[in-house]
Amino acid sequence: MKIAIVGTGYVGLVTGTCFAEMGTEVFCVDVNAEKITNLKQGIIPIYEPGLEEMVHRNQQAGRLHFTTDLTECLNEVEVLFSAVGTPPDEDGSADLKYVLEVARTVGRNMTKHLLVVTKSTVPVGTARKVREAIQEELDKRGLQIEFDVASNPEFLKEGAAIKDFMSPDRVVVGVESERAEELMTRLYRPFLLNNFRVIFMDVPSAEMTKYAANAMLATRISFMNDIANLCEIVGADVNMVRKGIGSDARIGNRFLYAGIGYGGSCFPKDIKALIKTAKSNGYCMRILEAVEEVNEEQKSILFRKLNDYFKGDLKGKRVAIWGLAFKPETDDMREAPSLVLIDKLLASGCEVYVYDPVSMEETRRRLGDTIHYAKDIYDAVVDADALLLVTEWKEFRMPSWSAVKKLMATPLILDGRNIYDVKELEENGFVYHCVGR
Ligand code: UDX
Repeated sequence: MKIAIVGTGYVGLVTGTCFAEMGTEVFCVDVNAEKITNLKQGIIPIYEPGLEEMVHRNQQAGRLHFTTDLTECLNEVEVLFSAVGTPPDEDGSADLKYVLEVARTVGRNMTKHLLVVTKSTVPVGTARKVREAIQEELDKRGLQIEFDVASNPEFLKEGAAIKDFMSPDRVVVGVESERAEELMTRLYRPFLLNNFRVIFMDVPSAEMTKYAANAMLATRISFMNDIANLCEIVGADVNMVRKGIGSDARIGNRFLYAGIGYGGSCFPKDIKALIKTAKSNGYCMRILEAVEEVNEEQKSILFRKLNDYFKGDLKGKRVAIWGLAFKPETDDMREAPSLVLIDKLLASGCEVYVYDPVSMEETRRRLGDTIHYAKDIYDAVVDADALLLVTEWKEFRMPSWSAVKKLMATPLILDGRNIYDVKELEENGFVYHCVGR
């Protein structure tokens, strides 16, 4: 089977590569010529464990191709996945311009049946717009060619993208015809050996499933952050509370970690878009509005703790930050809480020294020389008045505390991810504050 994937962002590139790995011939298409030239040479635009080797392997096997011209492969493939971006426009709605542009290109160039699958996260009703856009172009050409549209939202997590794609908890597919269901079943059959389920449903439900899943996960995080803040006030320990509630099978123990708020390319954007979709349909998502509000405030929690410790006198304080990416195993800085924190520190006159295992370059691109870039974790804390732990990378978990203590000017640690042991740090002579304990 041959398929095309339009858009070589996170989702597109991982999807294309994983389908190729399972034996499908895949054409990955992107308008960004530089990206495609690089990919052809095996240069991967993102950091994702395992991806580079998998791309090389499938390129060499002749199953994975990269091109800037969709029309080159359009009439060779049976299925086309659209995985282009849907950035939020000014009012928070998902901007569908790229999705619809792909649809129009398809309508202008197709010569035989095609199944057009939307993989990007798009509001309910987008598949209908895609169908209309393709049909409009076919009408202009005076042609009657059958085609199908489907929705196949992607649930992969950055940093675990390959594993999530190769053995997901489930695959959700919204279809409108038996032909589309048959094609999608054929495409996903090799993955069925890994024992997962493809859940077929109508298209609007599939589109909604993606938003509802992300909204539920974001709600858990804001809920736990709210509980953590109250724990601090009443003298409870959110880690114990998490264990206590997580052992109830109805709640489950994952995704209950309090911290500095969620970031990344999905949650913030999708929550905003869902609130907006509801509003434009005359409905108010009260819970999600609160989820967002709690998250915005939580991003300032380390700053507030620092400010309280120094009683509002932060001018000239030297602050070390460990971790910049919105979570470990990625260099993604989109909506990273660290950016909000750094902004506030700079506005208060602090000198900021940062270290992250992979996001330094991306951070430098965004923040330039407004901050200092350290060589390693120890270099970052030299003469520091405080160390702020922002991203829970493995290499931050067991530093030599005696070395850190010797290097710092003030032995103050503010842990935004609750990864350290209170007793151990206090025994090492640190003042240690975390979230909800
Ligand atoms: C998320 C969804 O998990 C995925 O299914 C969807 O396809 C895209 O969005 P991702 O953005 O890669 O994936 O990150 P995820 O691992 O879900 O983390 C999101 C944010 O929540 C991070 O900032 C993380 O630090 C935060 N988080 C996560 C918490 O604060 N506490 C938790 O318990 C879990």
